[in-house]
Amino acid sequence: MLLDSVAYSIPHMLLSSTTKSDDSGVYIGIDVLFGRKIYWDAKRSPRHHILIVGPTGSGKTIALTAITTRLAKLNNATLAIFDVKGEYPSLMKFFTNKNAFIWDVTQMPIPICSCGEPQEDVIYNIRLFINTLNLLYKLPTYMRDQVHEQLVRLCRYCHESTLDNALRGYLVEEPEAIHTALNIFSTGSESSVATHLLHQKNTVIDLSRLFLLDPKATAVATLYILKRMLKTLGGLNTSSIAKVVLLDELWYVAQSAIEDLVNMLIRYGRGYGISLAMATQSIDDLNPYTDTIVESCGAVIALSSPSRSYWLRLAKHLNLGKRGIENAVKFVEQGIAVAKLYPHEKPLYVYIDPLD
Ligand SMILES: Nc1ncnc2c1ncn2[C@@H]1O[C@H](COP(=O)(O)OP(=O)(O)OP(=O)(O)O)[C@@H](O)[C@H]1O
Ligand SMILES: [Mg+2]
Repeated sequence: MLLDSVAYSIPHMLLSSTTKSDDSGVYIGIDVLFGRKIYWDAKRSPRHHILIVGPTGSGKTIALTAITTRLAKLNNATLAIFDVKGEYPSLMKFFTNKNAFIWDVTQMPIPICSCGEPQEDVIYNIRLFINTLNLLYKLPTYMRDQVHEQLVRLCRYCHESTLDNALRGYLVEEPEAIHTALNIFSTGSESSVATHLLHQKNTVIDLSRLFLLDPKATAVATLYILKRMLKTLGGLNTSSIAKVVLLDELWYVAQSAIEDLVNMLIRYGRGYGISLAMATQSIDDLNPYTDTIVESCGAVIALSSPSRSYWLRLAKHLNLGKRGIENAVKFVEQGIAVAKLYPHEKPLYVYIDPLD
């Protein structure tokens, strides 16, 4: 019914006429004009990240889950999902038959070091932690040095502690502001198994309880885990996609750490075996790196909105012309999107089909 009404209203000429066979990539959904199946040829796409944009309630989470689980399946890859709202443990049951490890960082802290780890890795992890913390909380240099020294000592002697206990005296200037962030990290913990699981099976990093406490701490956790994971995967020297990282509600992280994220996108490409699948409400969330991010994505999908300015801001990223915009504003339904998918140069009007 929905598809019929849309199909009658969009001029046929807006669409590319390429037809794909069933085995040609990641199934995206149904072409709303012709009713045929639309695929993203992810295996041959020179760009392998995914970006989904859409107003609240437009269907971003459903689209992201459907597409990333298909991409993971196609590549026999595992998923790491950063879940700010606590939606994914139940969603995963619908979209994949593989079990997911659910990691709530408020229950199982993020380990900075684990006993027996090579010293150089420990030092790297400590530096990474301090840099990430500094990105969000701006610590003075002397404080960073003190924290570094204290953490090196704790890790060297395999002292098990949450960082809130261990660092209280060293962060006297801002103890309350970073209290939540420190509580979710630990030293010398056996829970480092959680980090290893990131590489071995599907993992939902459930940040919903943390997010309610402090969005900044959520950004620290996300960036730290992501960078640890990238380093480990980078060391494995994988050539095809081994891990699909799903970042929903990207703007929570992007607002404070967009530069880091862009660096990750550009440096850790296919050679590192990582594909990032991101969703955010507005393309402006990615400023000033919008072009760079979009250029590294082989699938750019904008879910429907009645707002003309929304489409105007997206137009150049989707190759959407004037008439395309006029049509896009007319079709506002959950799951309806304008998509630019490799190898199609023109935008496609597609209903993101949650079911295979
Ligand atoms: N492809 C679809 N087909 C039909 N209904 C859909 C589709 N995608 C989403 N919906 C409906 O819209 C609701 C909202 O979808 P979803 O949670 O994916 O939106 P969202 O853009 O992620 O919202 P938010 O900004 O609040 O996170 C779903 O619960 C579902 O009922
Ligand atoms: Mg959502």
